[in-house]
Amino acid sequence: MLKTIAVSNEKGGVAKTTTTLSLGAALVELGNRVLLIDLDAQANLTLALGFEPGENENTSSSVMLDNVALLDARKKTDVEKLDLIPSSSRIEISEQFLPVRTGYTTILQKAIQTGNLPYDYIILDCPPALGAITKNALAASDLLLIPTQAEYFSAYALRNMMSLIRNIREQDNPNLAYRILVTMLDRRNRTHRNIHEQLRSTFGEGVFNTVIEMDTKLRESPIAGLPITHYKPGARGSTQYRVLAQELMEYAKETEDRQAA
Ligand SMILES: Nc1ncnc2c1ncn2[C@@H]1O[C@H](COP(=O)(O)OP(=O)(O)O)[C@@H](O)[C@H]1O
Ligand SMILES: [Mg+2]
Repeated sequence: MLKTIAVSNEKGGVAKTTTTLSLGAALVELGNRVLLIDLDAQANLTLALGFEPGENENTSSSVMLDNVALLDARKKTDVEKLDLIPSSSRIEISEQFLPVRTGYTTILQKAIQTGNLPYDYIILDCPPALGAITKNALAASDLLLIPTQAEYFSAYALRNMMSLIRNIREQDNPNLAYRILVTMLDRRNRTHRNIHEQLRSTFGEGVFNTVIEMDTKLRESPIAGLPITHYKPGARGSTQYRVLAQELMEYAKETEDRQAA
């Protein structure tokens, strides 16, 4: 069964793009076919996989605005079984033009449902905003993955996210689940440890057991145009994203078993 995961947080710089790419590549290593969709006008994911945002005929904005089929916008990457739908700055106009259309929040949901997609996982890299694009991503997803730093303002920003989740569940996607992922953790930092503890006691099962620690190799891999797992397979970041991929697959299996029962 195809699983769609939205990676979202209204804050920038919390490792949304890094998580989309690294988790996607780790899922491929575990035998999955993965499609990444870049939904951010900054196109960092597109760049990190070695594509020029301006040079692609079809992009995520063609899917959102012009009804282009997902498979007609997909690109093969240098990593086998890892495909990408690139972004460009044009996706930004969706935020303005989509809300005037009726049913605009389910465009992506419908594109995925009717897309006949040969993938095990689709991962959506969202922009740092909770607007039309992010609503589409959440309406289309089985799971919302929220990367967050163990910083006060990051934890605080989760409030808006929680109210958006309630909204989406009421309107377009009653089964939307979420998991918080603590990223860029520095275990020597007492505040980080405290906030991580607080997140776990507040959200319980809603926080992944896996945490992603600081690793400068994660900053270098986009320059190489490769996911960390391929750029530095032995790096701490590679190991931790592999563990995350395993935790996610177990979670997906449990959910399937529960739905089948
Ligand atoms: N675990 C990590 N350790 C060190 N740097 C990281 C880590 N995760 C992400 N980064 C770096 O932090 C910056 C922001 O990450 P990015 O994934 O672009 O965030 P977002 O997509 O949420 O804006 C990037 O320079 C990225 O390379
Ligand atoms: Mg990003």
